[in-house]
Amino acid sequence: MSLAGKNIIVGISGGIAAYKTLSLIRLLVKNGANVKVVVTSNALNFVTKLSLQTLSKNKIYDSVFSEINDYSTEHIALTDWADVMVVAPATANIIGKFAIGIADDALSTTFLAFDKPVFIAPAMNSKMYENSAVQQNLRTLIERGIYTIEPPIGELACGCEGKGRMEEPEVIFELITGFFLNTKKLSGKKALVTAGPTYEAIDPVRFIGNHSSGLMGICIADELANRGAEVILVCGPSAIKSKNSSVKCMDVVSAKDMFEVCKQYFETADITVCSAAVADYTPKQIALQKIKKKDNDLVLELTKNPDILGYLGEHKTSEQFLVGFALETENELQNAENKLKSKHLDMLVLNSLNDQGAGFGHTTNKISILFPNKNTKHFELKNKTNVAKDIVNEIANN
Ligand code: CTP
Repeated sequence: MSLAGKNIIVGISGGIAAYKTLSLIRLLVKNGANVKVVVTSNALNFVTKLSLQTLSKNKIYDSVFSEINDYSTEHIALTDWADVMVVAPATANIIGKFAIGIADDALSTTFLAFDKPVFIAPAMNSKMYENSAVQQNLRTLIERGIYTIEPPIGELACGCEGKGRMEEPEVIFELITGFFLNTKKLSGKKALVTAGPTYEAIDPVRFIGNHSSGLMGICIADELANRGAEVILVCGPSAIKSKNSSVKCMDVVSAKDMFEVCKQYFETADITVCSAAVADYTPKQIALQKIKKKDNDLVLELTKNPDILGYLGEHKTSEQFLVGFALETENELQNAENKLKSKHLDMLVLNSLNDQGAGFGHTTNKISILFPNKNTKHFELKNKTNVAKDIVNEIANN
């Protein structure tokens, strides 16, 4: 994809991997992007201003206060100008500053003033990378929606093997072009997302519910909105809120409420993602008064709830893209394949309760994505914000 007309800030902090950023800048410029480079003073120990200026064809921003570079007023204009920012390499130090909100140089100031998509490519010694302070800072940034390009495992500058080397410029370039391409595909599309548990009332004070936090579905709704989709989020009771103010949130309580809202919006939805943990059964009758305890056992009679995803699958047109979730405990792939087929889905996200750190109550998830053509993709255990990015990328690509 051509990057013609795209404005990109490339941020460089002080690591040996900065030499690779020269190739990244060249790739971006060669493919039509306008690039402006912001560096920390330590970055200039590894690459020269002259090389950066020659490759980017623009002046370099390296200090907040200097006679020739009045960055104290320019950085807002620069952040207005850019569509995305990519920081490569991102050292442990700059990651820490970004996470805490320190703005004491040109790069950290730009980051703080930038309210559009940011990619960071961490690069450091593997012991530093694994340090819990760095991991905590990375989690903070990921949860704020920063695209973190995980370092691959390989030989490090110190000569040892480990995780911490910066991803290759070609891979970073592909991620950026993929981002623009998928954003173009999703921009203006209407999306409907279900999330969270449902509560099925027993009496005025009690209900049948489940442990779903709603986080996975809310992350998907936010990511679709970040890519320009018009999103309606139908969410059962959840303490978590969407971070994207453009997401239209419809709060519901029971499966029946969720079903009604979904039916209302489904017809106009281009993309529907059902990630809610909908109760399959509901009490046949809701007691009008609080049920008093008695000496004998209590039997609750349950009746079946509507299968929202099943209904949507039956009523969808060939133009609509429908995504379902499956949480399986045994015969995962076989059960998931059956669900994909029987509910007429275009894509199914499978998470297994057998995977540590995956599913309900975790901030991480490990998924596989199945398609009707038998193609299956397996993903690593990731923070749910990053899992949502993978899911949304697959929706855009299919
Ligand atoms: N789902 C739904 N409405 C329901 C039950 C489930 O929309 N009443 C959706 C969920 O949001 C999820 C998918 O169906 O996308 C899978 O739910 P799951 O409970 O795993 O599947 P079921 O079809 O209910 O089958 P089973 O419980 O037998 O696994």
